[in-house]
Amino acid sequence: MEGEWTVRRVLGWTGDYLRRGGVERACFEAEELLAHVLGVERLMLYLQPERALTAEERARYRELIRQRHAGVPLQYLLGEVEFMGLPLRVDGRALIPRPETEQLVELILRDLGSLAEAGLKLLELGTGSGAIAIALAHSLPRGEITAADISTPALALARENAARNGVASRIALIQSDWFAAVEGRFDLIVANPPYVSRDEARSLPREVREHEPRSAWDGGEEGLEALRRIVTEAPPYLKAGGGLYLEIGASQGARVRSLALASGAYERMEVLPDLSGRERFFRAVRRAR
Ligand SMILES: C[S@@+](CC[C@H](N)C(=O)[O-])C[C@H]1O[C@@H](n2cnc3c(N)ncnc32)[C@H](O)[C@@H]1O
Repeated sequence: MEGEWTVRRVLGWTGDYLRRGGVERACFEAEELLAHVLGVERLMLYLQPERALTAEERARYRELIRQRHAGVPLQYLLGEVEFMGLPLRVDGRALIPRPETEQLVELILRDLGSLAEAGLKLLELGTGSGAIAIALAHSLPRGEITAADISTPALALARENAARNGVASRIALIQSDWFAAVEGRFDLIVANPPYVSRDEARSLPREVREHEPRSAWDGGEEGLEALRRIVTEAPPYLKAGGGLYLEIGASQGARVRSLALASGAYERMEVLPDLSGRERFFRAVRRAR
């Protein structure tokens, strides 16, 4: 009977169903998806437990729950995340931006300090949804930003997100295999490249392994393929004194540092922790010749 499918009842049922399907925060996610279908804030559900779903709402909710049960990430189903307070569309075209990556952007902004007002030239490699480039463009109103990715679908998503956040005119999006199509020299280069090793890939959550683009996380046998290319190819594209900022896997700091050391092109090489103390970032400065 239509009237019996109330908010309370469908949540009880779908929360259990998702939990049995291996979804960790099953109740929270069931609520997020229902609020999305009903077009309300999640907390509103608590105020309307006896609200009855229409047949159309039920059908849309059932389909989202089916996909979530099959491992599609919550963020793809909601179609949106916030990154540094900015709304970004997300879907299977690109990796879902992670909170650690916000910390990388915060590190850059902290390091730039008053230079943030200068007309700096910045390059992001592997922009995906555009998260890093868009957040930098937003915080650096005079910055000139180039954002590259090898993936055509990711670049289309980044373009949509840049437009949505009003920074499309300040980000040049280019298709490039790392530096292959990049021209010029930059004050700063940043990348969150794929860095998951073959071993780690085996224990990735199925949400990532089966639904986020493999080219966004697969870093080859040791997870270092992309990092090696970026660290060794970056020097001619960095101005003297320019900074290289990378997100890395928690066990890769020493290897990335020795790659940078071996190139002879950098000074002040540092592996830096995220807020939970894991070594997730690498920073180096281009040595003057
Ligand atoms: C870990 S994702 C990062 C996405 C986004 N920057 C973020 O932080 O959420 C890595 C990105 O690198 C891109 N990528 C992979 N191989 C590449 C290559 N050879 N050249 C340029 N980009 C590449 C992928 O398409 C993906 O968008």
